[in-house]
Amino acid sequence: MKKYISLFLTLLLALGLVGFAHAQDDDELSGELEIFSWWAGDEAPALEALIALYNEMHPNVEVINATVTGGSGVNARAVLKTRMLGGNPPDSFQVHAGEELTGTWVVADRMEDLTFMFEENGWFDVLPEDLLDTITYEGGVFSVPVNIHRSNVLWYLPETLDELGLEVPATIEEFLAVCPDIQAAGLTPLVVAEPWTVNHLWETIALGVLGAEGWNGIWTGETGVAGLTDVYATFLDVLECTNIDADAAGLSWQQATDRVIEGEAVFNIMGDWAAGYLTTTLGLEPGEDFGFAASFGTDGIFMWLSDSFGLPLGITNRENTLAWLELMLSIEGQNAFNTLKGSIPARVDAVEAAMDEYNAYLLSAADDWAVDVLVGSLAHGTAANERFMGDFGQTIEILLSTGNPQAAANAFAAICSQAAACGQ
Ligand code: GAL
Repeated sequence: MKKYISLFLTLLLALGLVGFAHAQDDDELSGELEIFSWWAGDEAPALEALIALYNEMHPNVEVINATVTGGSGVNARAVLKTRMLGGNPPDSFQVHAGEELTGTWVVADRMEDLTFMFEENGWFDVLPEDLLDTITYEGGVFSVPVNIHRSNVLWYLPETLDELGLEVPATIEEFLAVCPDIQAAGLTPLVVAEPWTVNHLWETIALGVLGAEGWNGIWTGETGVAGLTDVYATFLDVLECTNIDADAAGLSWQQATDRVIEGEAVFNIMGDWAAGYLTTTLGLEPGEDFGFAASFGTDGIFMWLSDSFGLPLGITNRENTLAWLELMLSIEGQNAFNTLKGSIPARVDAVEAAMDEYNAYLLSAADDWAVDVLVGSLAHGTAANERFMGDFGQTIEILLSTGNPQAAANAFAAICSQAAACGQ
């Protein structure tokens, strides 16, 4: 009996020590942590859930949630640039894995190499190769991915399709064939919003026209002007089926999604943050209250992007930031965030740890991610650098003002060579 009592006491002591060490850990961190992103308003809940977890673990740290509103980071990136160049970096900031990270901040030597964290936490073993490649530059790893989003998703309302007697178009041609009937019924066939959403539509149409190989060929220079001319020609036809000349420019991506939900538009092509909006913000049930499919002609291809956060050089709250990054790529952090965001975890072992918390859309995205052909998104920083992306919109302006696909393709090629983005 004595033996058991002393064992019990030893155990209590050990637990006490662990508890003490834990409390001390928490106490060791204090001061501030500034997280910079564009996840404001409707886009905020997932980030807020992660911050709440951080607050529980590190109650003495004051988290400053610095957001700059504007879908796809159109405004945030400009503010970030001023801060980074002015020597006032946030402790950590949202940046797309891929060229947006490496081609901008890593080449400029503004980010700390995180290889040591990846080794300490075993992260090299739990992230997919494609993703690891996009956050690696000259042997160093430069950001911590919080998720995987899919860009090529078509959203619709089953009732609207039923009322119009339509099936989900599998190809661009099938969509173009039903477009006049939808217009005749007084609805917008495909709703777009502010300019970045038109860039977003472009990449999914390009993928539908070129396929995965042709898409990747853009970035190696193999696809060339002929392939791009086909893309712009088809894109022009698709734009005829949108509200681009009506009120697109004044709509946010959420307002475009609303048009589908309200039955004024039949389809919207948007990344799966739309699933986050539809489920987390609007409380709708995927598969029942709204439908989803791969965008026209892209079944079996997953155009991906990843939101990630890094460690800028020269920040004051380095330890607090390391704890933030660690939480972000923990199984707990990945699940707290992704079950609300519309994205799936970057870690391959996270979904299985909380299967019940993932809805039907997210489970289907996770299944597709495991088997589909993967290609990187242009509109969200994976495929091309910021210089290229900054100018890309001009190709669409040229297309719209001249109606000439070849002129737009030529402009694309010129921007490619100026930004060294297409393999030259
Ligand atoms: C993407 C970002 C997503 C979502 C979306 C709309 O660029 O990766 O997480 O925020 O913009 O703002």
